[in-house]
Amino acid sequence: MYIKDLRLHEGQPVTLKGWVANKRESKGLVFIIMRDGSGLCQCVTDATQVSEQIFENARSLTLESSVELSGTVVKDEKQVGGYEVRVTALTPLQVAKDYPIAKKEHGVDFLMDHRHLWLRSQRQWAIMRIRNRIIYSIHQFFQQEGFVQMDAPIFTGNACEGTTNLFETEYYGEPAYLSQSGQLYGEAMAMAMGKIYTFGPTFRAEKSKTRRHLSEFWMIEPEMAFFDIFDNMDLIERFLRKVVTDVLSECPTELEAIGRDTAVLQQIVKPFPRLTYDEAVKIIKGEQDVNGKNAITSLEEELKTVDARIVEVHKEIAEREERMKTPGMKKGEIGFNQAKIDKLKQELVDLEEQQRNIPQWLNSARSFVYGNDFGGSDETVLTRLFDVPIMVYNWPHQVKAFYLKRDPNDNRFARGVDTLAPEGYGEIVGGGERETNEQLLVEKIKEHELPLEAFEWYLDLRRYGSVPHAGFGLGLERLVTWVCKLPHVRESIPFPRMYGRLLP
Ligand code: 4AD
Ligand code: MG
Repeated sequence: MYIKDLRLHEGQPVTLKGWVANKRESKGLVFIIMRDGSGLCQCVTDATQVSEQIFENARSLTLESSVELSGTVVKDEKQVGGYEVRVTALTPLQVAKDYPIAKKEHGVDFLMDHRHLWLRSQRQWAIMRIRNRIIYSIHQFFQQEGFVQMDAPIFTGNACEGTTNLFETEYYGEPAYLSQSGQLYGEAMAMAMGKIYTFGPTFRAEKSKTRRHLSEFWMIEPEMAFFDIFDNMDLIERFLRKVVTDVLSECPTELEAIGRDTAVLQQIVKPFPRLTYDEAVKIIKGEQDVNGKNAITSLEEELKTVDARIVEVHKEIAEREERMKTPGMKKGEIGFNQAKIDKLKQELVDLEEQQRNIPQWLNSARSFVYGNDFGGSDETVLTRLFDVPIMVYNWPHQVKAFYLKRDPNDNRFARGVDTLAPEGYGEIVGGGERETNEQLLVEKIKEHELPLEAFEWYLDLRRYGSVPHAGFGLGLERLVTWVCKLPHVRESIPFPRMYGRLLP
């Protein structure tokens, strides 16, 4: 019996197995919030209704103890989940001692060190279930579209996404690398199957501590024969729309648990704006408005608002602290003021972060040099102006991977397309049309200082029945992070691997 199914058993006896998410006692009653992975429910043990032994069992429970209990299901709208269980029997399975994660605020490092336990919290529970739903929808989408799933190797003999972020390992005495991308193998398989997708772990060794970077992340890489860059964009758009729509319809409880405002996600039905690199640069530099907004002036105004609000918040905190010194103030009123102060202090943390960030964003937007790749700040500046993902295509070929097709109309550009999530999140998908010209490919491989021998097999794909083709890679964690509006990618994967962390 699972908590999520209690509604089917109103008035009936049930047995639940789970963990104690919260416990409080008051005269002759023990209230437990029980969780079993499927949901939460309040279970009440009443001393007048059960034996002394059972009541003592209930009292012995501590935070995160495991327990089996039986009782009757009663509808109660006020309780979490809408149902309550009136306990008739209760057996502790293991009584936990001093569970390290208390209700008080913990720092992120502490929580990351206790990731194996932190995953039990309601917020992490919700994020992991949304991640699960996204994975399910991804497979559903591609399978329904007739794609063949393939697994690309993880030990590889060549780089795919540049040589600066390769994890090197040893393979029977030879150097080998952990895969940065399954794409090159996906291209080979697409020539055998038509349309394929890989879904596997990929590795990047940049010593980067940004909120977007993981050392190990999961990537979905479809590759389609006979697709050009525009077919590719159509597919990206339909794909992301399906996944986000599914999360909205299948995960309302989870979205509510993390306090995600779904208004932006609902916009996913609108067409995704498609901008060339040139247009995107103009927007970043404030030379072109978008949706009635100018990137630079709107940031400047926002900074003023933030500065003003910080002054206001400081003042209100001081006033309330002063008021709390009033002799004889009632306990309730003190509590009320303290709660307000705590909330204001939390707001201050966010505001101060913005006060630090906005000048940096402004600076990098103003000084952006045409021809460069976008950095995290540039993506933030650009995507804060949108409420749906945008697609930026036709990039200066020098800043993109060796395998992208040169634009036949203007050879300064390569036919790459990045999809950037709105609300400041930035790149979630990278992809494009592939170079089919063997000569150009060889030049690019040399230009990137990659060993040509390791790519002979890849060049064979251009020698034997070469066709136009395209594909993309979606970073699963980046998508989860945006959908859940997380401040950092570390919460989007059960056990993150990132610079400076290998445990737990
Ligand atoms: O843009 P990237 O490097 O593109 C590729 O790997 C191509 N081979 C994909 C293809 O065309 N088949 O990576 C693709 C996506 C990024 O848009 C981002 O979402 C994610 O992978 N990604 C990362 N996610 C977390 N941490 C990192 N260090 C990431 N690097 C890339
Ligand atoms: Mg990229």
